Amino acid sequence: MTEQRLLHAQWSSRMAFILAASGSAIGLGNIWKFPYLAGQYGGGAFVLVYLLCVVAIGLPIMIAETLLGRRGRQSPINTMLTLAEEAKASPNWHYAGWLGVTAGFLILSYYSVIAGWSMAYIFKVNSALFEHIHAAAATRFFDEFKSSWEFQLIWHTVFMVATMVIVSRGVSGGLERATRYMMPALLAMLVLLDFYGMSSGGFGQGFAFLFNPDFSKLTGEGVLAAMGQAFFSLGLGMGSIMVYGSYLPAHVSIARSSAFVASADTAVALMAGLAIFPIVFANGLEPTMGPGLIFQTLPIAFGQMPAGWLFGMVFFVLVFFAAVTSAIALIEPAVAFLAENLALHRKTACLYAGLACWALGLATAFSFNIWSEVKLFDKTLFELVDFVTANLMLPLGGLLVAVFAAWVMPRATVESELEMGPGPAFGLWHALTRYVAPAGIVIIFLDALGVL
Ligand code: PHE
Repeated sequence: MTEQRLLHAQWSSRMAFILAASGSAIGLGNIWKFPYLAGQYGGGAFVLVYLLCVVAIGLPIMIAETLLGRRGRQSPINTMLTLAEEAKASPNWHYAGWLGVTAGFLILSYYSVIAGWSMAYIFKVNSALFEHIHAAAATRFFDEFKSSWEFQLIWHTVFMVATMVIVSRGVSGGLERATRYMMPALLAMLVLLDFYGMSSGGFGQGFAFLFNPDFSKLTGEGVLAAMGQAFFSLGLGMGSIMVYGSYLPAHVSIARSSAFVASADTAVALMAGLAIFPIVFANGLEPTMGPGLIFQTLPIAFGQMPAGWLFGMVFFVLVFFAAVTSAIALIEPAVAFLAENLALHRKTACLYAGLACWALGLATAFSFNIWSEVKLFDKTLFELVDFVTANLMLPLGGLLVAVFAAWVMPRATVESELEMGPGPAFGLWHALTRYVAPAGIVIIFLDALGVL
């Protein structure tokens, strides 16, 4: 075991870790999911709860999860086992690792379908079809695309294969190189779209929708969704930050890196919101449109810009890359586990994990068309997988991480691992992780259940 921990791969630098962790955090969650959830749950109040969750629950847990990973230096399941042993706690803690591996796997199954949409749009925006397209036509176009099971199948498959090829190339070969240039380029495209939003005539309304909280619109379900989104967007509670932390060299400040990643992630989500809602209002669209929101609004923006086809293509290429770097993080815990425990070659582990995930993803791909009538608990298969993973499994995984780091691990071990210096920073983190984050998660769960 010790030998395995020593041989475990490492990032080439602190910057490499930050880029990979930002790559994991920034993805469809920011560009596709945040805007449509904000739209569905009434805007400002949802955004405010989301921001509070990022600061008071997400960031402390991100630090905790990275810390566990670096200390354990293995896949999440084995890390939890080793750390539990070290802290003389129950080996059952390794089930937290299992929860994470399963969640990542389930999320990737539908993530791949949606990422497939952005791949398809790379080619669609580039056609004359989208020139000066108006709202009704953009919606019709999207609906037709979504209801074709053949298209869904093809793009889901293409995305999954691309992801697995990158993952199979290993930590520094595939993961690092993929993130280095894409993130700054994505940011530049969002700035462009924000400028378009400012000139669209709907900016004031879009801005007010996102930042004027109307608490009468906030339900227990909305609060749960906001917390789930904080976990989803930061990429927490399922072992991917843990596994990235396990590749982190000693003496890199976990707290500072995490704060950077969380800020970047939040900024990108808000920028996406500020790009999309002005378009929604300027074109008389409904904010509550759901998962198709960006696919029905952005083509309108690109259709009206000079050289919009080019910007549109570049944008969806970048969304695709943002999605790939998150997808890598979603499957990495499963791949690391298969490689360690079944002694599989990394490429073989990728093949197995990828195939299984692809098969599961068919449920989502078809939930928009031939299986749209298949419902469980009043949700389509896509909605169900999304709800269970983002709103239940990730916060639960996060809760376990927080409890383990702040209650089970000896405080001295944690303190020496974090090296936060003599100031109040460590105490603040410890209090947030020990009390605030777990209490927040439990209260939000109970509230959504109607117990409170
Ligand atoms: N954070 C990613 C996104 O916003 C998704 C993700 C979730 C990645 C969980 C890793 C772990 O798109």
